[in-house]
Amino acid sequence: MRCQVAIIGGGPSGLLLSQLLHRAGIDTVVLERQSRDYVLSRIRAGVLEWGTVEMLREAGVGARMDAEGFPHDGTYLACRNEGFRIDFKDLVGKQVMVYGQTEVTRDLYEARDQMDGKVIHGVEGVVIHGADTDAPHVTYTLDGTEHRLDCDWVAGCDGFHGVSRQTIPDTVLKEFKRVYPFGWLGILSETKPVSEELIYAQHSRGFALCSMRNAHLSRYYVQVPLTDKVEQWSDDAFWDELKRRIPAEAAESIETGPSIEKSIAPLRSFVAEPMKWGRLFLVGDAAHIVPPTGAKGLNLAVSDVHYLYHALVQAYQGDDHGVTHYSEQALARVWKSERFSWSMTGLLHRFPDRGDFEARMQEAELDYLQHSRVAQMSLAENYVGLPY
Ligand code: APR
Ligand code: PHB
Repeated sequence: MRCQVAIIGGGPSGLLLSQLLHRAGIDTVVLERQSRDYVLSRIRAGVLEWGTVEMLREAGVGARMDAEGFPHDGTYLACRNEGFRIDFKDLVGKQVMVYGQTEVTRDLYEARDQMDGKVIHGVEGVVIHGADTDAPHVTYTLDGTEHRLDCDWVAGCDGFHGVSRQTIPDTVLKEFKRVYPFGWLGILSETKPVSEELIYAQHSRGFALCSMRNAHLSRYYVQVPLTDKVEQWSDDAFWDELKRRIPAEAAESIETGPSIEKSIAPLRSFVAEPMKWGRLFLVGDAAHIVPPTGAKGLNLAVSDVHYLYHALVQAYQGDDHGVTHYSEQALARVWKSERFSWSMTGLLHRFPDRGDFEARMQEAELDYLQHSRVAQMSLAENYVGLPY
């Protein structure tokens, strides 16, 4: 088979890139290891930067998001069970959109179907050949048969555990890591969200987050030691701990109920450089991971897709500037989002190895944030999304 751009990975970044390129007349094939149902069964975050909202609309997949998503003008931060609001709309004139990543991925699959986009599920043993030549190709096995896909470019949208990053020689690739000494225990519950907007709570017992999917589906998280197991946490224990950490009035009014999903996720920051090697590009989680505290995971994948989509359209019009500089351009925004996610994590979590002085530093920074419009503007500008 032959296509112009071979895309490894049928998650949100691979599907969005495929959809945008198809609409620009560039044909792609998406190779996905898992089934569609499996990809859609992953529970992921749901806060979209406004740049992401506009990219999804540009790709023709904005209708259900605009109909069912919740634009938020602000968010709450809390310290010592007292909350204060960061008003994005007033501070930087922008909003975010609360709409689950699973729904974004579902909309992208439907849009691919409507355009007869080529998404092949259940592929195994994907190998990228000749990425450092002018004629790369990809081989894979499907139902026991070996297949070869010739292409001009390869987009590695295969996540942290994919083959794309591993294709770049160790002599070229440099990795930057930070693993945090705690995780997030999250639950999904068919209960009314406790607040109209998200609540990010710093507390001496650890971080907590109140989020939502819709008016009847809530998502809550509490910071737990990495050694904790989900089995150790009954629903009651979860709700009791959450209430201890969030603003008092929220704790009094929160609707509790059985969890329909419960899991613990580790927190880490990770960046791989460069994000381009020959005719292979890394996109999304294949190149970088952020701790979820800044709600940047999906948004950073869309940011990479923004740069690569425009670069490839220009390349097929004879202008190689974008593809040549993709790695620097994408990484410049990646590092700023990594910094924001790292600083939010440092501000709002309890670090077991930190003493009283550091705890006071956190509280002083939250106090400064509560009373400084300038500090709030900086946080708001980063949260709603820095310009591309
Ligand atoms: N061959 C084919 N497909 C693969 C391979 C492989 N060797 N390895 C991984 N994949 C597929 C995975 O099954 C997954 O569906 O690549 C896809 C990668 O999707 P994601 O991990 O969702 O990564 P990305 O599309 O970059 O989306 C980033 O996902 O993890 C969240 O917080 C993250 O929100 C961010 C978003
Ligand atoms: C979520 O809704 O799951 C969510 C929201 C914001 C975050 C992280 C997760 O920062």
